[in-house]
Amino acid sequence: MFGKGEEKSAGRLVRRFGGSRVLIHYGGGSAVRSGLLDRVKKSLDGEGVSYIELGGVRPNPRSGLVREGIELCRKEKVDFILAVGGGSAIDSSKAIAAGTLYDGDFWDFYTGKPITEALPVGTILTISAAGSEGSGDSVITNEDGMFKRGASGEAIRPAFSILNPELTETLPAWQTACGITDIIAHLLERYLTNTKDVVTTDRMIEGLMLAMIEEGPKAMDHPDDYEARANIMWAGMMAHNNSCGVGRSQCWNSHDIEHELSALYDCAHGAGLAVTFPAYLTYVWRHDPERLRQLAVRVWGCEDDPENPEAVILEGIGRYRAFLRRIGMPLTLEEIGGREEDIPKLANSACRGNGRGGTLDGFVSLTEEDVANVYRLML
Ligand code: NZQ
Ligand code: ZN
Repeated sequence: MFGKGEEKSAGRLVRRFGGSRVLIHYGGGSAVRSGLLDRVKKSLDGEGVSYIELGGVRPNPRSGLVREGIELCRKEKVDFILAVGGGSAIDSSKAIAAGTLYDGDFWDFYTGKPITEALPVGTILTISAAGSEGSGDSVITNEDGMFKRGASGEAIRPAFSILNPELTETLPAWQTACGITDIIAHLLERYLTNTKDVVTTDRMIEGLMLAMIEEGPKAMDHPDDYEARANIMWAGMMAHNNSCGVGRSQCWNSHDIEHELSALYDCAHGAGLAVTFPAYLTYVWRHDPERLRQLAVRVWGCEDDPENPEAVILEGIGRYRAFLRRIGMPLTLEEIGGREEDIPKLANSACRGNGRGGTLDGFVSLTEEDVANVYRLML
């Protein structure tokens, strides 16, 4: 559901998807302060749907609160989870939804076990960023070691999502910028493909990236620009519900490399990506200069020079960095609180931690030493 005031449909939608006893799961308080939570409860009351609440999801959501939520849902016989917030509240909701119906430890899903069964989850989105409102993924930080991992399955793709762009007008500029950075990263991870002749999805991705480059700064300069907010919100959904990823291999190496940063330093995911992605592109562009030159020319507006692809590509990466800087993003490890001496640990965790097989595989295959080299390019 998309548009102004759509949160008033929450009760009706919960009913439509079979919910009668709801857990409302939200973050650190922005939804309380804005009055959104009260409006949502009113909508549930209006449909005679009973509910309990669990707030306190923090950015880079933690395993501890997920366990608490699972206990609560079992005890209270919850049959529907309503996430109010951003990627963190939504991902925590998805983890609780899967864990409640599972006999074992919910973390099994974050070490590769596919999620096949979960309570239905609905979302009311308050930040355009992670795309969790349309994805079948959840990312949780394990407090026992502070590392972040993802779980997937169609069972946790939201039953419905309510996207009211007005709700994002209270976002601080920093969070707006982190969101824009994440949306562009989701598009880039799909652009970095080894599948040939995927012209339609290439053009869709390029169009969405251009829209973000145009609309992002508008929302930064004018937080109440509804049209800019609406365009960004729709792009956030389209960037990560996999419409742009069909029929092509994808590359999630930058996300895997970033997740170590936001887990260890507790930086915003988007900020970690701003540091990671240009470094990653600098490291891997030689794998397919043609594709990276196409990106530089079509998206970053570089003048083409087929005789000298390296210059075009590096100019494109430079313009990407300049855009990130323009919207206030960090560009170095130091700016997100990272330290050079942590690099071996970060690379080891990315490649081998939590049962990983030793390489990160996507557009290119990266060994632990390669990953360390990407981190070094962030210094
Ligand atoms: O907690 P509250 O008080 O709500 O404050 C939040 C939080 O501090 C604030 N905020 C959200 N909406 C607001 C608002 N403040 C004022 N007005 C509003 N309308 O913004 C802060 C960030 O919220 P969060 O939910 O953490 O942001 P985001 O949507 O970027 O989610 C990030 C998480 O999603 C994961 C990331 O790794 C990270 O943990 N990802 C999830 C994915 C998925 N499930 O498909 C894919 C992504 O690549 C990503 O990895
Ligand atoms: Zn992301």
